[in-house]
Amino acid sequence: MPAIIDGKATAARCNEETARDIAALQTQGITPGLAVVLLGEHPASQAYVRSKDKTCRELGMHSRKLELPASTTQEDLLRLIAELNADPSIHGILVQSPCPPHIDESSVVRAIDPRKDVDGFHPLNVAALAMEDPSALVPCTPLGCLELLRAHGIATAGARAVVVGRSLIVGKPMALLLVAKGTDATVTIAHSRTSDLAAVTREADIVISAIGRPKFLRAEHIREGAVVIDVGINRIDDPADARGYRLVGDVDFEAVAPKCRAITPVPGGVGPMTIAMLMRNTVRACRVLRGEK
Ligand code: GUN
Repeated sequence: MPAIIDGKATAARCNEETARDIAALQTQGITPGLAVVLLGEHPASQAYVRSKDKTCRELGMHSRKLELPASTTQEDLLRLIAELNADPSIHGILVQSPCPPHIDESSVVRAIDPRKDVDGFHPLNVAALAMEDPSALVPCTPLGCLELLRAHGIATAGARAVVVGRSLIVGKPMALLLVAKGTDATVTIAHSRTSDLAAVTREADIVISAIGRPKFLRAEHIREGAVVIDVGINRIDDPADARGYRLVGDVDFEAVAPKCRAITPVPGGVGPMTIAMLMRNTVRACRVLRGEK
């Protein structure tokens, strides 16, 4: 039987630690603050943003949830970011992706003060991660995946890791974290144009999948005894569910789990860890902005 990696429980432990850090800051009169900006009414994004806002409040953090119409102009969004950059009660700023098509996300990310860029998407943070500079703010989902491996005693040094997906949000930073000194995995990045993907992923001791395609990785992609971290959160139609849909990962869990040493479920795997790491990044950003460390 594989070990099911419980992201909810691991995230709860991380959040307890973060709540203690927040309480300690509050004794000094400081409350970390996070601003989450959402443009439009993308249902999954609305759910993520609600969850981020709720967790902030539960941990004692200041939260500003800014839900703006999809028609918001680039100029207005940049003006809002400038205000948040200058707001001393805000230490973390996140613009939920994807934005509507008329928004140039790359220039929006560049407009965020890199010290408040708790997503770790600003070029200065991307470079800092690549340079293994410990001051980097690192993207939350890959940080959460690494934390899951650590919390479950899965050794990475010398392990062969295959990251499936090359996005700026997950795939690329995940590969950089895994290959960094101290983590020491041997890393391959596979993607939609990789030929014979199954032959590549079957080589892996650790497979991290972030491709956003439901049940894409099947038993033939995974070797016996591998560890599988499934980042995908895909909605598929399910008339039997009251919502009319259910969430599935990138991995066909039923087919793959019996072969694994350990695997994350969807939901309840990586998802809660992403939010826990966002909370941790915001506290870190707050301390750095206050000149603490
Ligand atoms: N959309 C999906 N994941 C993320 C994330 O980690 N940050 C932001 N800003 N948008 C996302």
